[in-house]
Amino acid sequence: MRSLSLLLILSLIAILSQPTFSKSVRCHPQDKKVLLKIKQHFNNSYDFSSWNPDTDCCTWYIAKCDRLTNRITIFDLKTADDVAGPIPDAIGDLSHLTSLTFHKLPNLIGTIPPAITKLTNLQSLTITWTNVSGPIPPFLSQLKNLTGLSLSFNKLTGSIPPSLAKLRLLESLFLDRNRLTGSIPEAFGDIPASLTYIDLSHNQLSGEIPKGWSGFNFEYLRLERNRLDGDASGLFGKSKSIWKVDLSRNMFAFDLTKVEIPDSLKYLDMNHNKIFGSLPAGLEPLSSLNVSYNRLCGRIPTGGVFQEMDYSSFFHNKCLCGPPLPECK
Ligand SMILES: *[C@@H]1O[C@H](CO)[C@@H](O)[C@H](O)[C@H]1NC(C)=O
Ligand SMILES: *[C@@H]1O[C@H](CO)[C@@H](O)[C@H](O)[C@H]1NC(C)=O
Ligand SMILES: *[C@@H]1O[C@H](CO)[C@@H](O)[C@H](O)[C@H]1NC(C)=O
Ligand SMILES: *[C@@H]1O[C@H](CO)[C@@H](O)[C@H](O)[C@H]1NC(C)=O
Repeated sequence: MRSLSLLLILSLIAILSQPTFSKSVRCHPQDKKVLLKIKQHFNNSYDFSSWNPDTDCCTWYIAKCDRLTNRITIFDLKTADDVAGPIPDAIGDLSHLTSLTFHKLPNLIGTIPPAITKLTNLQSLTITWTNVSGPIPPFLSQLKNLTGLSLSFNKLTGSIPPSLAKLRLLESLFLDRNRLTGSIPEAFGDIPASLTYIDLSHNQLSGEIPKGWSGFNFEYLRLERNRLDGDASGLFGKSKSIWKVDLSRNMFAFDLTKVEIPDSLKYLDMNHNKIFGSLPAGLEPLSSLNVSYNRLCGRIPTGGVFQEMDYSSFFHNKCLCGPPLPECK
């Protein structure tokens, strides 16, 4: 009897000392295998120190498990100087990912790997503030479930692939601060109605904006610091719901006089273009306005935004006049 209870106690101790028996493990073995491959790819960098192979991968940092399926659905690696090398192909084997982020990784290099196309459940792809280079791959259009695509602040070159217009669930597209060339693809004239946030600023894009954009209702559009030209007046109109437009430092040339300013508009920057005519009605309610360095003429209206902004929002035009610029002759 005594030896039996001793045996019982001993086996209890044995069970309790096994970490895997103390709690049920949620982590899917396949996901764990892939994550450990990724850790090895990045040379076991300090950032992955919570990724202890003896523990449940659902408790690790950077990767997050779904509450119901226990599969890794979020991979969010950011602000790490010692993460070096290219994006690992193994990332494509985290088959349940819905959100993938590489942000502020100065030593992340190489191109965007085709392995990413295996992530068909992906809704959000963010590769920002890295040294990733090469083209924006046309194959990203295979990620049909994407609602957000952010590739800002990298060293991406080449032109914008027309195939991105095939992402019919896209809501935001940020390709700013790269070295993109060529024109905005004409295929972008037919982007989904859900795509209302676009930032293509700080690139070397040239040519005119797609004709189809006149019939399109953006909320937020940034095209500043490119080499775009032609007419951008179609972006405006009474029925639009756009609240921020930045066209500054391009070569846009169109008559501003008859442009209808939407009631929704709050921020308008058009400095450094070749815009002519006079300031249209309806600008007063804006919070911020800059039309400097253009070819505008006529008297500056009074009140509202015209009272808030200083002369630097209006200077260097052909013949704009009145406060805050010198009086009209
Ligand atoms: C990873 O570590 C090995 C061995 O220490 C080293 O040769 C290699 O350069 C490192 N790779 C990266 C990307 O840091
Ligand atoms: C790219 O690498 C250079 C040189 O190492 C570094 O100075 C720069 O900050 C990196 N860029 C980004 C966006 O991290
Ligand atoms: C999009 O996601 C849904 C649900 O997550 C999935 O069933 C579907 O296969 C995905 N679409 C594509 C094109 O893979
Ligand atoms: C308007 O833009 C010009 C040119 O970039 C700049 O010098 C000026 O400071 C801006 N004004 C305001 C109020 O932002």
